[in-house]
Amino acid sequence: MNRPGTQPAQPDQERPAAPPRVLMLYYSYTGQAKRVLDAAAAVFRERGYDVTEAPIEFTEPRYAERFSRFPMRKVWPEFLGMLPAQTLQRTGDIKTPDAVRTGDYDLICIGSPTWWDTVSMPLRSFLKSHEARPVLDGKRFAVFVVCRRKWRKNLAGVRKLAEAKGGRYVDGIHFTYPGGQLPSMLSLTSYLGSGEYKERYLGVKLPPTNISDHQLEESRRFAARVADKVFGKRPQGK
Ligand SMILES: Cc1cc2nc3c(=O)[nH]c(=O)nc-3n(C[C@H](O)[C@H](O)[C@H](O)COP(=O)(O)O)c2cc1C
Repeated sequence: MNRPGTQPAQPDQERPAAPPRVLMLYYSYTGQAKRVLDAAAAVFRERGYDVTEAPIEFTEPRYAERFSRFPMRKVWPEFLGMLPAQTLQRTGDIKTPDAVRTGDYDLICIGSPTWWDTVSMPLRSFLKSHEARPVLDGKRFAVFVVCRRKWRKNLAGVRKLAEAKGGRYVDGIHFTYPGGQLPSMLSLTSYLGSGEYKERYLGVKLPPTNISDHQLEESRRFAARVADKVFGKRPQGK
């Protein structure tokens, strides 16, 4: 019996299903990983999913200062200075938003820039931390790698670390920048050191660096494929 003025409880099957919850987790220094995840997030939102953004903040006292400003003050020492710690796969201090600890997500998209041919210290630090298991355990995840050229070991590294915390890999995508080894390196370091896109650096004609509009479109298509795989295909025309 219902008390006067109260509605009968809705049977479970009549309650509208809660939308899928997606966490966009990333570290991004110059904003490239953020750009590809933002493009993917727009696709998820358009499908009605509940999307939460979680940027990782790099607070490690030894290195945080150089990554707290852009462009880099002394690009070569600051860029090369990460090589030893990256090679040794070191971890350091980071901060994450509360949403990482308080939410329960059905899909985690991980945005990952390559640093010295492997997972960047801030993301590795998260994936190795005690915070990662509650987020990833039993949950599906997709990996978005951004880099100049070296994507393979980074993608495999992120996958392995996330799987070690119980995550279930769905798919991965990588975005690289045009040009051969030397021109693309000079283009990237010129950008990191000046914050500008230049035609030439040290006498070499530079290819474009960073994520292009065409790659943002690729990220959107990838997001739609991942969404279909994890949550089922949308009916045509929706
Ligand atoms: C310290 C550092 C090391 C890097 N090492 C590599 C590398 O080994 N291979 C590569 O392809 N790109 C490398 N890059 C380029 C980054 O992957 C590229 O700049 C990417 O766009 C960064 O993404 P973000 O802006 O989201 O941080 C490096 C960048 C930095 C800052």
